[in-house]
Amino acid sequence: MIRKWTPFSEKITKMLHGADYNPEQWLQYPGVFEEDIRLMKLANCNVMSVGIFSWMALEPNEGKFNFDWLDFVLDTFEKNGIYVFLATPSGARPAWMSEKYPEVLRVGPNRRRNLHGLRHNHCFTSPVYREKVKIMNTKLAERYSQHRAVIGWHISNEYGGECHCNYCQDAFRTWLKDKYQTIDNLNHAWWTTFWSHTFTSWSQIESPASHGETMVHGLNLDWKRFVTDQTIDFYRHEIAPLKEKNPILPTTTNFMEAFEGLNYAKFAKEVDFVSWDSYPKWHFTWDDVDVAVWTALNHDMFRSLKNGQPFMLMESTPSLTNWQEISKLKRPGMHLLSSIQAVAHGSNSVQYFQWRKSRGGSEKFHGAVIDHVANENTRVFKDVMEVGEALGMLDEIVDTSIEPEVAIIFDTENRWALKDAQGPRNIGMGYEDTVKRHYKAFWERGIPVDVIDMESDLQKYKLVVAPMLYMVKGGVGNKIEEFVTNGGNFVATYWSGVVDENDLCFLGGFPGPLRKTLGIWSEEIEGLQDGDTNTIVFSKNNNFGLVGSYVAYELCELIHLEGAQALAFYRDDFYEGRPAITVNNLGKGKSYYIASRNKDQFHSDFYGQLTKQLGVKRTINSELPYGVTAQLRTDGEKDFVFLFNFSTNVYSVELTDGVYIDVRTGEDAPSTIELSPYEVKILKRTAIL
Ligand code: GLA
Ligand code: ZN
Repeated sequence: MIRKWTPFSEKITKMLHGADYNPEQWLQYPGVFEEDIRLMKLANCNVMSVGIFSWMALEPNEGKFNFDWLDFVLDTFEKNGIYVFLATPSGARPAWMSEKYPEVLRVGPNRRRNLHGLRHNHCFTSPVYREKVKIMNTKLAERYSQHRAVIGWHISNEYGGECHCNYCQDAFRTWLKDKYQTIDNLNHAWWTTFWSHTFTSWSQIESPASHGETMVHGLNLDWKRFVTDQTIDFYRHEIAPLKEKNPILPTTTNFMEAFEGLNYAKFAKEVDFVSWDSYPKWHFTWDDVDVAVWTALNHDMFRSLKNGQPFMLMESTPSLTNWQEISKLKRPGMHLLSSIQAVAHGSNSVQYFQWRKSRGGSEKFHGAVIDHVANENTRVFKDVMEVGEALGMLDEIVDTSIEPEVAIIFDTENRWALKDAQGPRNIGMGYEDTVKRHYKAFWERGIPVDVIDMESDLQKYKLVVAPMLYMVKGGVGNKIEEFVTNGGNFVATYWSGVVDENDLCFLGGFPGPLRKTLGIWSEEIEGLQDGDTNTIVFSKNNNFGLVGSYVAYELCELIHLEGAQALAFYRDDFYEGRPAITVNNLGKGKSYYIASRNKDQFHSDFYGQLTKQLGVKRTINSELPYGVTAQLRTDGEKDFVFLFNFSTNVYSVELTDGVYIDVRTGEDAPSTIELSPYEVKILKRTAIL
């Protein structure tokens, strides 16, 4: 098992702290850059992401490049011990380019080309855009790929979106031909006989559009897959000249929170390390627990994308955003708490958008380290200094690992298909929320979790939970069966094993390829109105050890036992007495089926019981009050235990499992830790193997 990961760069092996830095906005303001350097040092910053939207500053006229300002910035950074993620500027284009070559602009599903404007709106197929990117990236690579300040490439910015131009239509058709070989294969996979949608030539196929086709689910799914593949292809095109000049300089692109537009599980294979931008909606309600849970889940997902390799928190806000419905300020303590949360879940950095607040433009009121007042005497700057100081004490945590015994499957292609299908509950199938509610039961116990896609390896886990695995791709059913047969434990829910990778229903009974593993047949499912409920009741003396009843809502499935035993039954309606929770023994393992959507209390009790039975390791073995959690990183010799209080109450937590040192003070920690509202403690103990 990996305990300490290889450093991603030999140049710096510290926790990184920094921001997106856009000095080109300030070139006409003397003294700003020098002041920035002073303030960066004051905040203990050691990294900046530079050049993200700098195309115009780098190539003000076609073929006329200007690197002077960037030379100066990078050289000065080097002298001051500040490292750089150097960006390729493809996230936005100069107006001269759009004017001269309109094909670089994106075409919408309505087949209309956008005008010049905004950002993130290039065509990813356009030969001209690709050529321009190649020239730019080659120049950047020639000039900076050996620069001592540069520790990695930040490719473009938050790739996302799609283009429907003719180049893209052609590329899509080629992609389909590669995949299906014959049009008959495609017609079968897309079930096009329905509504006479059969295609007789590839040229008849168009990308989905609201004034055209939206109801062929196989087409929708393949289009999304194509968009991922074409984006990856564009990324490969971007990095080719960079890798040619310096193959060992790592590349990444900043991913977004639970972004649905791209299959990150696939994209992550292309990047040298994962990085992502996190903007939780702290304080939107007075209970931050669900936000903390969702953010933790995202961190775990981004870490799991590369098999546990530490990631970088590439962006976060030091205070507020200006694009959420309302802009809440982070309460005292929240900045440190949320920054260290990222570290606890596997980040090797805390970075912000952005360093200095823009004077104009659309993000002039977005939080930044330096406000318009332009000095260090702000609450936000002090919060950032506090994080800088804390990160400065965490060098020994860099590249440590997290080794969960539990994995939750949160799969993008499943998500696409499940949400696209018209079915049991068109007012919302709630996939993301469901995954979060299952995850929460582990979070509140301080049990580390990996968040994986269905194609990930399962062998290292004791327990795998797959909420609503509607789509089961080829091979996945067998893999899960083998996992359980060999002693693994598997939990599935209603609406699982319904379709294959083409969104074609399994014939012969749901949950299709999971039927044997689960020992049940699911005959029917119904959606409940908002507010309607049923009740599930655990049978007396069931061998699982849970008693009592729980509320079921939104989705209830009617299942038959085919070898599994029922642990709980429905109490109400015409399906009173039908099984609601089952367990099936298969080989050395067990599989559980949860036939209805249940509330948090159920998940808490169910997973509490299950993890206890399986002896799943918790970070610490003591009571954690509501809103308090614990997370673990380890290097095999030392465990780093993070205690978080996401509530507004003062709580205390008993420390078990040895003697602890408070990493930030260097002092012995008392055996009872008091946590103020939004407080975090970083502790160290001898590793428990
Ligand atoms: C994204 C972008 C940044 C900035 C921030 C604002 O993460 O990458 O350029 O717009 O959002 O929150
Ligand atoms: Zn296009």
